[in-house]
Amino acid sequence: MNVLSDIRTDLPTPSLTLDFAVINDHYYRFLEAYPGADVFYAVKANANPDVIQYVVNHGGGLEIASLAELELSLRAGAHGDRIICSNPIKNPLFLRRMAEAGVYAVVVDSTYEVEKVAQHAPGMRVYVRLSVDNTGSVLPLAGKFGVDGVSALQLFEMARDLGLTPIGLSFHVGSQCLNPANWENAIAACGQVWREAEARGFDMHFLDLGGGFPAGHYHDSSIPTIEAIAEVVMPAIRAHIPAELDDLMVVLEPGRGLVGESGLLYTSVVGKALRGTQEWVYLDTGVFNGLMETYEGFPPVVRLLAEDAERRPLRSVTLAGPTCDSCDVVARDIELPELHIDDVLLFLDSGAYVSEYGVAFNGFPIPEVVNLNAGFIASLTPAPANAQAEAVRLIA
Ligand SMILES: Cc1ncc(COP(=O)(O)O)c(C=O)c1O
Repeated sequence: MNVLSDIRTDLPTPSLTLDFAVINDHYYRFLEAYPGADVFYAVKANANPDVIQYVVNHGGGLEIASLAELELSLRAGAHGDRIICSNPIKNPLFLRRMAEAGVYAVVVDSTYEVEKVAQHAPGMRVYVRLSVDNTGSVLPLAGKFGVDGVSALQLFEMARDLGLTPIGLSFHVGSQCLNPANWENAIAACGQVWREAEARGFDMHFLDLGGGFPAGHYHDSSIPTIEAIAEVVMPAIRAHIPAELDDLMVVLEPGRGLVGESGLLYTSVVGKALRGTQEWVYLDTGVFNGLMETYEGFPPVVRLLAEDAERRPLRSVTLAGPTCDSCDVVARDIELPELHIDDVLLFLDSGAYVSEYGVAFNGFPIPEVVNLNAGFIASLTPAPANAQAEAVRLIA
């Protein structure tokens, strides 16, 4: 087990450190690996105003899902034309406010939504979300959203008839997508619709590759990197989309891929119990106040923060949160060094979907956020190339 000698040891728990050197490193890696593409950060992953401010200050765009995210984005100084909304379900007030703010474009994936957008945001640019294969993603999003190619073309026609401006396509391969071929297949599917749409006179120029970029390569080399996915994506765009890259607006919507690895969650052991033969360890963070993704099946990556971590015997334990609810279980049969009350555990890759999902059920607080390397928020200087390596050194 790891000894984390360089990690902060002075924080109360629960705390969440966000390292802006890591965010900066990832942001510029996206820009470098996908030349010509535009990063529209998926605010839902972490709507911390400092993260939004970082993206705005560095020229990135924002992908928003709600009125609250629109307001946060505008407050950070984002211009409407650097904001898109890829949430297929938008309420009328949100649509009206996006129209007022001059939001660049919004997604549609149903006739009802096309009608609603036409009514509340007349003339708006729209793109259609295709339903694509999510196999190989830890958190699939397929089923709830997206349409097939035939329906996409019908939505384009309907949108045009209602005075909207169809511009292109989007998809989402599923969050923490471990299978780069998903992007390739999705881009191939876009290509087919694209050609037919152009044949019908639509001016197609917007290709939104969604999120799904996974976190965790630095501790698990089987997880594809930003660059490894780009090696699949860029040739796929050239092969399947009938347009020059220069004439396209290629959008990346990383949430986890931008901020996930920047976050370390610090949580303490607050209780232990033997239930039958199973050892239970209770933490001050659980499913409700930060670790909701574990409830969705996301396997947590956990380290003990203790000098003697490597010398302690390994135990298979159940990790649970502090609330009275029996669903508040974070991991079953996870192997960790023997744990004692007040030990601190680190949950790696916690920069995304921890604060956002958190509620203070039973009065247990959401982890307090501590910014590290906050100078990168304002700075326009790309991170030293070794920022990621630094994170590896600290954690591996
Ligand atoms: C439309 C859309 N874009 C981007 C994202 C961000 O995805 P990820 O965090 O996997 O990058 C999501 C996540 O649910 C989403 O729904």
